[in-house]
Amino acid sequence: MRTDNATKTRKHKDTQRKKLRETSRLRGIHYLLTIRKEVQKRRKADFAKNRSALFLYSFFPDRMSILEINNLSHRFSDGRMGIEGISLTVREGEFVLISGQNGSGKTTFLRHLNGLLLPSTGAVILDGIPVEEDLVRARQMVGMVFQDADTQIVGETVYDDVAFGPENLCLDRKEIEKRVSGALTAVGLKMFADRRPHLLSGGEKRRLAIAGVLAMKSRVLVFDEPFSNLDYPGIRQILEQILSLHRNGHTIILTTHDLEKVVVHADRLIIMKDGKVVKDGIPDKLIGDVEKFGMRAPCAFRMGMKIESWLN
Ligand SMILES: Nc1ncnc2c1ncn2[C@@H]1O[C@H](COP(=O)(O)OP(=O)(O)OP(=O)(O)O)[C@@H](O)[C@H]1O
Ligand SMILES: [Mg+2]
Repeated sequence: MRTDNATKTRKHKDTQRKKLRETSRLRGIHYLLTIRKEVQKRRKADFAKNRSALFLYSFFPDRMSILEINNLSHRFSDGRMGIEGISLTVREGEFVLISGQNGSGKTTFLRHLNGLLLPSTGAVILDGIPVEEDLVRARQMVGMVFQDADTQIVGETVYDDVAFGPENLCLDRKEIEKRVSGALTAVGLKMFADRRPHLLSGGEKRRLAIAGVLAMKSRVLVFDEPFSNLDYPGIRQILEQILSLHRNGHTIILTTHDLEKVVVHADRLIIMKDGKVVKDGIPDKLIGDVEKFGMRAPCAFRMGMKIESWLN
């Protein structure tokens, strides 16, 4: 009888302990989920300047990185290596500047970010899913603005050109109209909606390409040499547009040889040479090295002065 009672008590205590463990496990999970929600809420914040977000990032790095590039290489059909062994992580909301001499592999690298080129080895993971697993998703999430805006024109009119992407997402007409109208207003081209895109100036064509990626609601915006062939007001206009998109939470990846125009605004500078990443860090720390890799340091820096924004 005594033995039965002791067994019962032990069993009861075991059950209580089990319940307690389960409750604390659930509490723990609940706590982690709460923090994770907080992390997601802060996705659009400027992580680099937000200490508590950075603290959370140290616990949840994967939730905050939008692009994971693992040992990425690309060999062209003629056997030449375009890029080789690139590994890096881009955090959501980051402004990344990629620089390097002509032919260093910048464009080849960018074209892997939404699957326009596929890796020979390695992988690009976009918000947890390899790009090549879902190319439609990748093209929607990563919007590209190419150096040669003419190659991006697909519509008969400015309106049609911007509507092309959303139409391919099979959205309803009302949503398409809303997106196109919003995107054209954002880049200041609403009044040209019925114009033929080929009649636009170089700067206007680039703004049209930006409207195209805005209408797709792309989270990552990639600009390949966005300032080439533009005059001073044109450069300022595009720069303002890019900074405003960054302020609104978009992740920006931009290539340029011309650091002068944009380096002061970037969170991070990556330098490429012969298809490889040779430097990756805070622009302030790397700017002294750029001339070793064939780029010109900003004038102000060469004269020992503070680098100023082109918008000042
Ligand atoms: N389809 C291709 N087949 C073979 N080689 C190619 C191909 N496309 C690019 N390349 C070569 O790959 C290298 C990297 O080219 P990429 O266009 O990526 O350089 P980049 O850094 O963007 O240069 P730029 O500053 O002139 O735009 C170059 O040597 C280029 O000639
Ligand atoms: Mg290029």
